[in-house]
Amino acid sequence: MAKILAVGIATLDIINSVDGYPAEDDEVRATSQRLCRGGNATNTLTVLSQLGHESHWAGVLADEPDARHIITALARHRINTEAVLTQHEGKVPTSYILHNQRNGSRTIVHYRNLSEYPFSAFEKIDLGQFDWVHFEGRNVADSHRMMTHLKQLYPELPCSLEVEKDRPQIETLLPLADLLLFSRAYARQLGIDSATAFLSAMQKKAPDKDFICAWGEDGAYGLDRNDDFHYSPAFVPTNVVDTLGAGDTFNAGVIDARLRGLSMKAALREGCQLAGRKCGHHGLEFIATETPA
Ligand code: ADP
Ligand code: FRU
Repeated sequence: MAKILAVGIATLDIINSVDGYPAEDDEVRATSQRLCRGGNATNTLTVLSQLGHESHWAGVLADEPDARHIITALARHRINTEAVLTQHEGKVPTSYILHNQRNGSRTIVHYRNLSEYPFSAFEKIDLGQFDWVHFEGRNVADSHRMMTHLKQLYPELPCSLEVEKDRPQIETLLPLADLLLFSRAYARQLGIDSATAFLSAMQKKAPDKDFICAWGEDGAYGLDRNDDFHYSPAFVPTNVVDTLGAGDTFNAGVIDARLRGLSMKAALREGCQLAGRKCGHHGLEFIATETPA
């Protein structure tokens, strides 16, 4: 068991299931509705907790009634919230999600007016207690200060960075992490449609790092610091019921594998296996409910 800190967000996800994706200006009835805690960093921690790790979250909550759902769900997964900052202004970030029950796809409309986790809160955390620190790669200026601070104090402490979307100057964070976890959406935003071409382009920006990119139902690709490419196919369940949080689950699988000293190839496989199992279940509470595939 390892002690893991993740810096990023927790959201309130309002998930409406629909029988087929509606057309613009349609009016349709949801077949069911679920309210749950979401957000990349806390999704990843939720999976890591189920894998037996001690998860700690550094992020912002709003002092308002909707935060209750989030606090309760974090407690259910024993996610430590000592580093959390509570703001009196703003609402918890909220995602309005259309879940297409015919194919498990999720379409997310995200709204936030809450400030991001600041360096001033991060610098108060006793980082020496952790075995791994993961960043969601959001507010670039503060993340840059946090990651620099971490590397100055604990150069040997493994650090991962998720790059999900293009944000101004996000590439300045790449040299500050040991493991970079990209999304296909980011590669596409840069206009690159091939995973290996994308990973090579990223490696030029930050040599001597490990690079991974999840590629949806096509699996995931990696480029390690010895210049070797790796690939794992996706593990598609019999029924793909819910893909919300597949990428966050994949990241948890990769972090868990690396903490156990597994190779990049094995880490890609674990990430894809875990994400595939998740796609066969609603929500993220899927690990205790079945034996590994
Ligand atoms: P995100 O949730 O960020 O959009 P991706 O779609 O890239 O993430 O998926 C992350 C990982 O989840 C993929 O690498 C793959 O292993 C797995 N995955 C995604 N979609 C499916 C699917 N339809 N069937 C099986 N596995 C999937
Ligand atoms: C899934 C997710 C949702 C959340 C949204 C935030 O990856 O974390 O739980 O609402 O993305 O962008």
